[in-house]
This record gives sequence, structure tokens and C-alpha cells, in this order.
Amino acid sequence: MTLSVELVGPGEMDGEVSVAASFATSGADGAPPELVMATPESATARGVPVALDPAECAREGFKAKVGQVLRLSSANGRVLVIGLGNPDALEPERWRRAAAAVVRAGGEGGTAAVFVPSDAPGAALAEGALLASYRFDAYRSKPSAAALERVAFVTEQPDRLRGDFERGVVEAGAAMFARDLVNTPPSDLDPSEFARRVQERLLAQPRTTVEVWDEERVAAERLGGLETVARGSSQPPRVVMAHYTPEHPKEVDGKVPHVVLVGKGITFDSGGLSLKSADGMMTMKTDMSGAATVMAALSACAACGVPVRVSAIAMVTENMPGPNAVKPGDVFRARNGATIEVLNTDAEGRLVLADGLSLAAELEPEAIIDVATLTGAQVVALGRGIGALFGNDQALMDRIEAVAREEGEPLWQLPLPEEYAEHIDSEIADMKNMGRPGEAGSIAAAMLLSRFVGEVPWAHLDIAGPARSGESSGYLTKGGTAFGVRTLIEYVRTRAST
Ligand code: BES
Ligand code: MN
Ligand code: ZN
Repeated sequence: MTLSVELVGPGEMDGEVSVAASFATSGADGAPPELVMATPESATARGVPVALDPAECAREGFKAKVGQVLRLSSANGRVLVIGLGNPDALEPERWRRAAAAVVRAGGEGGTAAVFVPSDAPGAALAEGALLASYRFDAYRSKPSAAALERVAFVTEQPDRLRGDFERGVVEAGAAMFARDLVNTPPSDLDPSEFARRVQERLLAQPRTTVEVWDEERVAAERLGGLETVARGSSQPPRVVMAHYTPEHPKEVDGKVPHVVLVGKGITFDSGGLSLKSADGMMTMKTDMSGAATVMAALSACAACGVPVRVSAIAMVTENMPGPNAVKPGDVFRARNGATIEVLNTDAEGRLVLADGLSLAAELEPEAIIDVATLTGAQVVALGRGIGALFGNDQALMDRIEAVAREEGEPLWQLPLPEEYAEHIDSEIADMKNMGRPGEAGSIAAAMLLSRFVGEVPWAHLDIAGPARSGESSGYLTKGGTAFGVRTLIEYVRTRAST
């Protein structure tokens, strides 16, 4: 059962309503919370109060913190007041979390009528509600508990918000597609199945082509990194290469911008011969999140008809310790001719991405953005809420960082100091695939990647922490989060206007 969301005018709200909701901000300087807009007649008719009772708020401990819920009841049924935090600068992220709170508190089944001001961010409302409603029930005999079926956002001038709202629906749909891929058990989503599902989805989008390279093509293309990692697995690797060409291209400086996205697609990371612990392996079906993210983003870019060219490359394989597995000490040659000594087979992501980035650079785009659950060190440095951002072009990184903040997918830039280049010096090859134990692990990985993009402006998102959530809260659900999908879409979409 999927939630349906809609945007309606006050007179268009038909059918039964099981719960009404409205929003409040915390009062300035400890003053009691206040509703965000004068309560319209259509809302009072549904039982939304004209003003909040300070005594009741105090009694219920309702301070209108972001996502906090005050439950009221009226003759007409249940009423929720959702907190948005302090009244100044209501960032989209707060509306996203508040819309999610409506869905979480909305109850079992039925329709919610949610009253929003005419300047609310439409995309964030749709995203928050839809992403909070996401369930992964494919493997349950009984579906999870009933939830709201419909959320109608009621606003004075729905057409003002319509375009943004619909874009939010598309972005949330893309994110849910990525979550499904991440949450699917690894034996059911091996590299060929990943490719099949992505191909099916992308071929349904306008002006999009998809190529899937099999193991023979991978060999013919001299993708040494991908081949090396795949050697230990009984499943052959895949490359998925997708291109979207706009019908109405926008020129910037006389050229149509072309952005290439590259994703790490390890459908299961056992570590290979440098085997992980049982605990370390438990969540390693998540290791294809980057590949899911870039493919989901491309599908949404196509669906929205963004005016720039977008390509996405997914490097897909298992990392397993089979009899033919790469051994610590082995050296292979990457697509660009560089040799890499594999000292830890668990540092596999950078090997497949090296080739993916070479392929991307050969397309001579204006920018390359890669996304990967690359290093445990990223989780140590920034935790589960923030991704690490690296790159060779400060303007590109600044734009991505700003968009990511707006999308509620925060990134923090880490450096690529030239003095650390020697961390990946090899005794016998051009480089080795790990840095110094316990030192700057995310930087060492990014440093290796930087050698495969040539002169092309490039940004790298290490999302090892935020790709997965340990709990369902706000608009996140336990398991895959699809972190980065909204940022990539919005980066590409706004590229034409910046
Ligand atoms: N997929 C892991 C990184 C990871 C760890 C993602 C935890 C999400 C949560 C990656 O392939 C890996 O194993 N990296 C090693 C590199 C090391 C051996 C140099 C790591 O971070 O431990
Ligand atoms: Mn690994
Ligand atoms: Zn990995």
C-alpha cells in the first residue's frame, strides 16, 4: 500500500478526513508556540483551533520543536499540531521533517487534511510525507501495520506550489526506488539483477538509453579494477551505463552542460580474502548504495526533463573470497594504464571506482560526481548524519555542498593534502589500495580516486555512514536511506540556472 499525496485548494477537499493537521512554531524567547498561519475556515471546520492554548501546550510539554506532535481532539475527530521549531528561516528540511511527523502520527488508514501556508516549500512537503511512509514489505508474509492512505495538503493557492510539489513526488519516488534496491537481500540482488532492475526503470523514462556491459565486455574494455574485485565471486560483474539527453537543452557559455555520475555498486562486500568480521558484514548489502543513488537520480532527472545532459555509470560486482579471489600482494592494471597493488582486498570500492572514473573522464563532461559507501573511516569522522565531500574543484564542491544542505543531506568537505599522497605509495606498483593503518582512511581512498579523473572537475561523496539508518525516524526508515539522491537531482536541475 503506497501513500498518495496531493495538493488541493480549500474548496477542493472532498471525502472523509480521519485526521486534520496544522503547524506551529516555537514562540520567540520562551513565549508559547503559535500556529504558523491564521486558521482558515476550511481548517476550523475540521477542528483545527484558531489559536493554541498556552496552558494546554505547557501541560502537554509541547514546545513546537521540529517534528514534535501535539494531539488535540475535537467534535470532528483527531487534530494534530506539528512543530516546526523557531519561527525565523524555516528551512525546507524542517518542513520535510514536519510532513514526516504527520505521516508517523497520522494513524491507521484514512486521509489526513494538512493545512499549509501558501509559501510552504512544496517539494519538501511531498518528500517528507512520502519518504516517511516508505515500507519494505517484499519479504513479509503480512504487510506492516496499516498507515495513512492519503495526505491532502490544503493551501489557499495550490497552483503556486504545484510545480515544486510534483517535483518532490518524483524525487521521493526515485529515493524509494533506491531504498528498495539497497534493502533487497544480496543473493536476490546480484550484479545482473541490479542491472536488470535499473534497466527496466530507466527504459521507462523519456529520452534515456541504457547499456549493460557483461563480463566479456568488461574484459574487452580493460576494466582491471572491476575484474579484479569480481574474481572472487561466482557472479559475473556488470557495468550499467545510462545517458539522458534533454529535449529542450539549455546552453551555458555556448555548451549544453553534461554531468556524469558514478556509483560504487558492491552488491555484497564480504571483504574478500581480507575477510570482514561477522558484525562488519551484517549490513554489507548496503555497499551498492552509491550505484543505486546515481541511477535513481538519473531516472528523476529524465522524468523531470532537466535541460542538461546527464550520464550515470554503475560499477557492479560482489566482493567475495572465492578460489580465484585477488590476493593481498597482487597487482593489476586499471583502465587508464596505472598499476595498483592490492594489499587489502576489503578496500575494493576504490578499485572499481578507479575504472568508473576513467570511463566518466573519457566522456569529457563538465563535471563528474561519484557516490560511494567507501570507508569505515568516514563513519568515524562524521557519523551517520553527514557525508564526506572531496574533490579537485572548489566551485563544484561549494555548489554541491549548498544544494546538499538545502536537501537535508549535509556534506562536510575534507581535504586532499598533497603531502598525504605518499600514504598510497607502493613498493612495487604505481600505488597501493590502502593508506596508513588508523590514519586518514577516507582521505587515502579519495586520494586514489583523484588520480583517475584527469583534468575534469570532480567531486566525491563518501556516504558510508548516512547510506543506512539504524532506526525509522523522521522521514528516514530503517535500512537504506537513499542519501544523496535529492542532492544529485537538485544539483543537476539547478545547474542550468547557476
Ligand atoms: N564498504 C566498506 C566501507 C564501509 C564500512 C561502508 C562500514 C559502510 C560501513 C569498504 O569497502 C571497506 O571495507 N573499506 C575498508 C578500507 C580499509 C580496508 C582500507 C574500511 O573502511 O575498513
Ligand atoms: Mn570493503
Ligand atoms: Zn565496500
